[in-house]
Amino acid sequence: MDTAGTNAVSNGNMSLADRDREGFFHPFTSIRDQRVNGALVMSSANGCRIRDTDGVEYLDGAAGLWCVNVGYGRTEISDAIHAQSLSLPYFHTFNTIANEPVIRLSERLLALAPANMRRVFYGSSGSDANDTAVKMLWSYNICRGKPEKRKIISRAYAYHGVSVASGSLSGVPMVHQYFGLPIDFARHVSRPDLYRDAPARGFATEEAYSAYLAKEIEEMILAEGPDTVAGFIAEPVMGTGGVLPPPKGYFQEIRKVLDRYDVRMIADEVITGFGRLGRWFASDLYEIEPDLILAAKGLTSGYLPLSAVLVGEKIWDVFETVAGDGRAFAHGFTYSGHPTCAAAAMANLDILERENLVERVAEMAPVFRKTFDDRLLDLDIVGDIRSAGFMMGIELVADKTQKRSFEASAKIAGRVSLAARRHRLLLRALPNSDVLALSPPFITTTEDMATIADLVRAAIVDVTDELKAEGLL
Ligand SMILES: Cc1ncc(COP(=O)(O)O)c(C=O)c1O
Repeated sequence: MDTAGTNAVSNGNMSLADRDREGFFHPFTSIRDQRVNGALVMSSANGCRIRDTDGVEYLDGAAGLWCVNVGYGRTEISDAIHAQSLSLPYFHTFNTIANEPVIRLSERLLALAPANMRRVFYGSSGSDANDTAVKMLWSYNICRGKPEKRKIISRAYAYHGVSVASGSLSGVPMVHQYFGLPIDFARHVSRPDLYRDAPARGFATEEAYSAYLAKEIEEMILAEGPDTVAGFIAEPVMGTGGVLPPPKGYFQEIRKVLDRYDVRMIADEVITGFGRLGRWFASDLYEIEPDLILAAKGLTSGYLPLSAVLVGEKIWDVFETVAGDGRAFAHGFTYSGHPTCAAAAMANLDILERENLVERVAEMAPVFRKTFDDRLLDLDIVGDIRSAGFMMGIELVADKTQKRSFEASAKIAGRVSLAARRHRLLLRALPNSDVLALSPPFITTTEDMATIADLVRAAIVDVTDELKAEGLL
């Protein structure tokens, strides 16, 4: 583990890292690693760079967790947060109470979203947006007199969050393993994988592979019974599960199947929403035609927690139809429609629009890709580079021609990510297979892209040399 920072800011004799060990239970962190290696304590950030408490500066190749899209240090967002927290820091939105920022944000989101979206429901995290979507589909079908229509089909290795419902939709094994998940409403089909699965199955075209994957969904709907299946959920580009863009025609083929069996489509745009693929919503890019769109992360660029569920016409119409009897959608959170979070989102959208950052991602995506292809494809352990917009996955393999993976226990991507940290670059090692993920802020310059790619190369070379010395290559 990296020891670039000793985090010497102390309380008496205890460093911050020591104090971290004693009090902070980290998410998704090996308890042993925290004990042995200590935390990397961050203190400030600007643009695409973040510093720890020793003043060591890192390039952020991941925009935090795929979210700081406009970059750090945007005083415009901080000022909006400050102003809103002075005038109305908080009030709830239950029982028809509202606030101006959330009303304006809802109008703005509907104007940016695909044309069939009718209403916006708010929460604080991607996980709660997924839970809300599940309950919306359950309620929608109960309102239609179909209470048995509850199952939701997701995909192996998907990541939709970690709460009980969203964790059940997730297909990442580690999210299920020690929790007895998934619970009974969730089902999983194959993920699209153009690197391994499609060629292994001998498909001549991406369209043929898409038709095959759609057939798998149809077979599952038929096996479960169409009257029991409420929805299908997918990330437009699977993120944590390996950065897997869809094969051509994938969502169109699936749409035909879903329409046939009265199954609603949920697009989890928690990563892809607000420009990461060079469009405001990937649903438009891939012509997904979802009934629900889930957003979080890029909605505020991570400056404050906020999630949104955009509700499509088919579902909203049913809620409107039953509205006559006075019933409420009895779901919502203390922080649903939080005015200060909405103000942060408005300022974030202002920046994206004024600086044309969504268009910039679309324009720069080929440059981003070529920068990495040029610097990495010759390396022995780089098996595949795949990308969409400013989302990239680099798959590391023990044998390129055979596409043979390393032993999972060797955690090669994790080692590369730590080596990158020694080179002052932050990137993510994904939990399944050895995939490095890059998702830089939209403002990343061509020079910084080249530096990031050079540092990824240096980290991969370091680990390759270590593996050779250990006799593992
Ligand atoms: C596609 C997707 N959905 C949902 C989530 C869960 O979001 P959160 O961590 O805010 O609960 C994530 C988080 O990475 C995600 O990538």
